Amino acid sequence: MEYKLRKAEPRDVSDILRLVKELAKYEEMEHQVTLTEKELLEDGFGETPFYQCIVAEIQGDNSSEGLKVVGFAMYYFTYDPWVGKQLYLEDFYVMEAYRGLGIGSECLRHLSKLAIKMRCSGMMFVVAENNEPSIKFYKRRGAEDLSQDEGWRLFKFSKNSLVKMATPAEE
Ligand code: ACO
Repeated sequence: MEYKLRKAEPRDVSDILRLVKELAKYEEMEHQVTLTEKELLEDGFGETPFYQCIVAEIQGDNSSEGLKVVGFAMYYFTYDPWVGKQLYLEDFYVMEAYRGLGIGSECLRHLSKLAIKMRCSGMMFVVAENNEPSIKFYKRRGAEDLSQDEGWRLFKFSKNSLVKMATPAEE
């Protein structure tokens, strides 16, 4: 099956959101997706893009169908004060029917080339602990498990905590 990777465009936001939701469902956390197409459009294609995306397209099953977006990789650049620029892979997903065709590997090849071109020292990402197939997929390609090897833990301040911290304590 022929597929093609390309940089996402504003017209892709509905497909991106569809795939974001599919990945969240796969991770059994679908209820946590509150983002809208409008936000994806503003945040990815506005004056200051907060993320970038590549999408994988295939020709639809019958000739009347156009190209169909079947996978995506969402990423952005971060900065590590020890080693400098890093590419952060935020979301990575290929629809089940199109897995095993090399689309995921091609996305990683594309992002690896980009990271090298941008002089990044690595590509970071988080994987759910129970997502064994994906952990194996990354490890086969040389990924190191930093939680296991270095003991890092992932933290987050919720909006509520932010509001509390931003609000001066009552005298
Ligand atoms: N389904 C899955 N994997 C298969 C299948 C199949 N039906 N058939 C074969 N495979 C094997 C391939 O042989 C290949 O093995 P290899 O690692 O030895 O090369 C591997 O699984 C898949 O390689 P690709 O075809 O290059 O990758 P694919 O297009 O399947 O995409 C991905 C990989 C994105 C991980 C995909 O499996 C997927 O969407 N999984 C579910 C969602 C997920 O876990 N996403 C990553 C979350 S972590 C994050 O987002 C940072």
